[in-house]
Amino acid sequence: MNPGRPNIIIAIDGPAAAGKGTLSRRLAAHYGLHHLDTGLTYRATAKALLDRGLPLDDEALAADVARGLDLSGLDRSVLAVHDVGEAASKVAVMPKVRRALVEAQRAFAADPPGAVLDGRDIGTVVCPDALIKFYVTASPQGRARRRCEEVIRGGGTADIADIIADLQKRDARDAAREDSPLRPADDAHLLDTTEMGIEAAFEAARVLVDAALEH
Ligand code: DC
Repeated sequence: MNPGRPNIIIAIDGPAAAGKGTLSRRLAAHYGLHHLDTGLTYRATAKALLDRGLPLDDEALAADVARGLDLSGLDRSVLAVHDVGEAASKVAVMPKVRRALVEAQRAFAADPPGAVLDGRDIGTVVCPDALIKFYVTASPQGRARRRCEEVIRGGGTADIADIIADLQKRDARDAAREDSPLRPADDAHLLDTTEMGIEAAFEAARVLVDAALEH
């Protein structure tokens, strides 16, 4: 990376289990960038409330917790559990929580040489001036299959019909909220990973990032 060059920001948005996480980690490793799964910031806020027995519907309190979050200690293995995801999608509708977390996410992105951030509103709200934006999707069946495999790999049991219903409920909440709903930025490249393996998705993204870096 050239000294003096502005930070490189790669924005990756899309619904749950579309393959954003793996793609983001691969891109970050390839380009030597930091990586932030911003879903973990919402999950960590929700988990801190749950752990302290605090209510999930007190916006001022949730925003205080969000402001005190340490982004360096986010651990997906602890935060991945279903109840934390459910609670996260409730605190994610609160504008004050979003404001606090977006500020922390932008500070993370400002650290040289830049970062890959994945979430729901990176290209639209957090980093609208990103070098390049991707919107990663897959069919509900493809996403449920991927989520099922993750759960089974982790030693759990999973029912595909339950997972599809759960993903649809989560998507509806993410897409319908008033503040920063899930939607592709106008200038995002769409990547549908239903048929594509993650390797093909990474290659497609890499070609586009290389082209953006040359400009
Ligand atoms: O991607 P995930 O399942 O870890 O996200 C957890 C919740 O946080 C999910 O309901 C969407 C929400 N979220 C958000 O609103 N904005 C982001 N940038 C990332 C996640």
